[in-house]
Amino acid sequence: MKLALLTVLATVGAVTVNPLPQPQSIEWLNENAIVFNPCANLQLNIDNELVEKNLNRVLNSVLETKYYPQAIEKPISSYQPFPTGTVKRGNGAIDSITITIENSSIPLQLGADESYNLTIDNNAINIDSVSTWGSIQALKTLQQLVVYEKGQFFIEGSVRIEDHPNYPHRGVMLDSARNFLSVKKIKEQIDIMSLVKLNVLHWHITDTQLWPLQLESIPGMIEGAYLEREQYSKNDVEDIINYAYERGIRVIPEIDMPGHSRAGYINVNEDVLACQHSWWSNDDYSLHTAVEPPASQLDILNNETYLMVEKIYNEVSGLFQDDVFHVGADELQANCYNYSQLFVDWIKANLSRTYRDLSQYWIDHSIPIFRKIPNRRLMMWEDILTTPEAAFTIPQDVILQSWSDYLRGSNNIKKLTSKGFDVVVSLNNYLYLDCGYGGFVTNDPRYLDSPQNDEFNTGNGGSWCNPYKTWQRIYDFDFTTNLTDSEQKHILGAEAALWSEQVDNTVLTQKLWPRLAALAESVWSGNRDSNGNYRTNWLSQRIFNFREWLVALGYDALPLVPKYCLQNPHACDLYLNQTVYNDYT
Ligand SMILES: *[C@@H]1O[C@H](CO)[C@@H](O)[C@H](O)[C@H]1NC(C)=O
Ligand SMILES: *[C@@H]1O[C@H](CO)[C@@H](O)[C@H](O)[C@H]1NC(C)=O
Ligand SMILES: *[C@@H]1O[C@H](CO)[C@@H](O)[C@H](O)[C@H]1NC(C)=O
Ligand SMILES: *[C@@H]1O[C@H](CO)[C@@H](O)[C@H](O)[C@H]1NC(C)=O
Ligand SMILES: *[C@@H]1O[C@H](CO)[C@@H](O)[C@H](O)[C@H]1NC(C)=O
Ligand SMILES: *[C@@H]1O[C@H](CO)[C@@H](O)[C@H](O)[C@H]1NC(C)=O
Ligand SMILES: *[C@@H]1O[C@H](CO)[C@@H](O)[C@H](O)[C@H]1NC(C)=O
Repeated sequence: MKLALLTVLATVGAVTVNPLPQPQSIEWLNENAIVFNPCANLQLNIDNELVEKNLNRVLNSVLETKYYPQAIEKPISSYQPFPTGTVKRGNGAIDSITITIENSSIPLQLGADESYNLTIDNNAINIDSVSTWGSIQALKTLQQLVVYEKGQFFIEGSVRIEDHPNYPHRGVMLDSARNFLSVKKIKEQIDIMSLVKLNVLHWHITDTQLWPLQLESIPGMIEGAYLEREQYSKNDVEDIINYAYERGIRVIPEIDMPGHSRAGYINVNEDVLACQHSWWSNDDYSLHTAVEPPASQLDILNNETYLMVEKIYNEVSGLFQDDVFHVGADELQANCYNYSQLFVDWIKANLSRTYRDLSQYWIDHSIPIFRKIPNRRLMMWEDILTTPEAAFTIPQDVILQSWSDYLRGSNNIKKLTSKGFDVVVSLNNYLYLDCGYGGFVTNDPRYLDSPQNDEFNTGNGGSWCNPYKTWQRIYDFDFTTNLTDSEQKHILGAEAALWSEQVDNTVLTQKLWPRLAALAESVWSGNRDSNGNYRTNWLSQRIFNFREWLVALGYDALPLVPKYCLQNPHACDLYLNQTVYNDYT
């Protein structure tokens, strides 16, 4: 134990520049700082527009930011020799980048190889990757290796990095359907995601409250937008997709169906909806028709529903090229359908039918529509197989997103992977970033300071998914707990989710960053050191620096600690004992 502790400390002491996510393997070969001049018109050996654009962005950003990490174990300037004087190209300074890409036609899709090797010594930077996407990841690492001090840009020593992600799906879900998120702000998140190698933006575009997407095939849908200036045109969508693509990030659209559907539909043909005029909560939770206002779901038994679903699916499919499309399927509220005459008659016609038959009806009638687009995998929330209203069967190749309770003894991730389903993990108790802010519903007397409200006000305080997820909670989450090897192979990765009932442009960046970087690291290279111990405390300096870097880059990322804590490594630890985590596992 003592030996292990010494090893860990020695490693941390030597690595002053500490990229996030931590690479799988990073080896500093010496401490001879290498001058790096971002203006030096570096020679790139290959003709690859994407790589070139990324390199230019890295160089410009390095130049503009002039970043120097404060949260280090040892001042970089104590290294010898420290370069001084005018930087001359070809005189101990890097003047070329050699990039080798095995196959630059590998498309950006689920499972695309993102591995890379990055070697920096004396005058040269070498990057080897299988795909273009691996080289882009390497450049993101390079961006974090260059520091600025005393008028010089430099890399602190020769270094060799071998790197690849643990999981192919590493993302965040943004919700632009409770409050609108502008194209500019979404692009800002894409920029930051790329810095930490997240590669999936899951875009929950529509919900009961808001339909912000213009459709040519059903022009009336956009009446479901809040404002004329809060809409996404076809060009906006293409702009976001291209912006993400250039940074190696896939955009997976979600049209949430058959629950979470109202805005837009209600303007075009409200016959395809059920319970759209019901009171959502009924003042008696057992009679509620929705989890949040306003109530309404697609009427699964109406033929016209499928005509509309097909038009929407086809047009949105044309906008998004990704090989995965999310079709929702979460939180179907059974009571809603008691407002549908079609449903009431359907039950009367056969009293053995249940809500499960209804969900199965949805699957049987919607999947053939979705299947008409080839080479495409569907993604759904896990509810379609885990709730009391679940369908009986769904196609085996559907990717399921697991979000609900992960109580001791009830583990949906295990249930689903053991049945052979591929799973993306988004458990609300670790990865929902909207939690911990209280509730948003109004006329809520539970906030009154009265004895009958004590439990509410000392407990969740209206936030159904308390507590707020801190970066430490996110990082410590072991989502493969209790999985067999074959079950683990069905984990595609993880996604944090930011539902936007209380989020819009003004707070978006702060609610995501820097804590999302903790997930970015755990899905890239894990949350354990080589001895199998949590390395959360070694993430602390990385994530504190990362936050300072974001601020230097001009982003409003939330402060995590008093700056004292980052300038004095580990001074703010709760325990002096650095292996205290072992007491809790
Ligand atoms: C390069 O990748 C493309 C797309 O995956 C594939 O079709 C092609 O065969 C690959 N080329 C080589 C030489 O492996
Ligand atoms: C990186 O280097 C290792 C060891 O030399 C090698 O096995 C691997 O294939 C290299 N990876 C890439 C992407 O070139
Ligand atoms: C819905 O379509 C089915 C099959 O085409 C047909 O049998 C049924 O009568 C239609 N129902 C309504 C309400 O139009
Ligand atoms: C809704 O209808 C179902 C089926 O007829 C019935 O079992 C259930 O009690 C009804 N729910 C409510 C809240 O009335
Ligand atoms: C009635 O519904 C049950 C449950 O779905 C089904 O097993 C049964 O075949 C149905 N009966 C008829 C006559 O359709
Ligand atoms: C893992 O398995 C143990 C032993 O069966 C159980 O106590 C624990 O709740 C499980 N945890 C999860 C997250 O499945
Ligand atoms: C630190 O905590 C670990 C786990 O409880 C314990 O085994 C170890 O003895 C402690 N080390 C010191 C120096 O107290």
